[in-house]
Amino acid sequence: VESLETVLVEYDEDRGVGTLTMNRPDALNALSAQLRDDIVAGLERLEERNDGADGVELRAVVLEGAGGKAFCAGADIGGFCGESSGGSSARSHYDFIRDFPAPVVAKVDGYCLGGGFETALACDFRLASESSTFGFPEVTLGILPGAGGVQDVTKIAGPAVAKELAMTGEHISAARADEEGLVNRVYADDEFDAEVDDFVTDLAGQAPLAVQAIKRSADMAVNSGLEEGIAYDRSLFQELLRTEDHAEGAAAFSEDREPEFEGK
Ligand code: HXC
Repeated sequence: VESLETVLVEYDEDRGVGTLTMNRPDALNALSAQLRDDIVAGLERLEERNDGADGVELRAVVLEGAGGKAFCAGADIGGFCGESSGGSSARSHYDFIRDFPAPVVAKVDGYCLGGGFETALACDFRLASESSTFGFPEVTLGILPGAGGVQDVTKIAGPAVAKELAMTGEHISAARADEEGLVNRVYADDEFDAEVDDFVTDLAGQAPLAVQAIKRSADMAVNSGLEEGIAYDRSLFQELLRTEDHAEGAAAFSEDREPEFEGK
């Protein structure tokens, strides 16, 4: 797949896994307007894999930062003065990630700060190397996390943790982020790449339509009442019962073999 100005785009056909690498290592992958646009464009390119495909080809996306020092150090400080967080009218890269059909995995190795942390929070999973750090330095600039960071952290870890992070601006370790439920897994630095690869391979091997439905269901649960959420799940369940993947999963179980899901 052809890469973009500030995002490297890769696609692994065997697993159906796309990788977007934020590629401004000299600025610790700070979110310039170009980088935000390129994340959206990169996701659009990967999603094209499903055009005309029989079933679901693209199973998962990994979002990572180049350079080995940062996932993303937040909004580009040189560039965001006078600019809104991008959330006012145009669909931001945060929305795009949240609404993207396939699960998006934030592979966090190094600094994950401000808008970078919010980008990771918009993803479906956060996998962190042990030496990564997380924080909201916005307060030190006289602003607040402008893309839902306080909302997300409050929902995941409660208001005390959200206020602590956003009011102090202090960085927390990956271990602390794990304790607070802000990351899914923390891996030793020297095993990080291999462990993330295993996680993503497993994820990409699951029935893709079910995975997509589960993403929508969980996101619905965060933002709706229980009754509405359960009614939604019931309709997703009825849809999935009619898929070939469901028949395949059941057949594989009775025949005591591994299923082969095609997203149909
Ligand atoms: C632009 C950045 C940057 C950023 C780092 N750089 N963060 N450039 N925007 N957010 C650049 C530095 O200027 C430097 O460039 C190079 O990356 C390496 O950074 P250093 O500071 O030299 O590295 P280090 O000393 O290791 O410190 C790392 C750091 C620090 C702790 C992450 O860079 C830092 O505090 N960065 C700012 C974090 C931040 O406040 N982010 C914005 C949050 S606000 P040169 O050219 O000197 O090598 C936000 C707003 C969301 O995200 C809402 C927007 C409206």
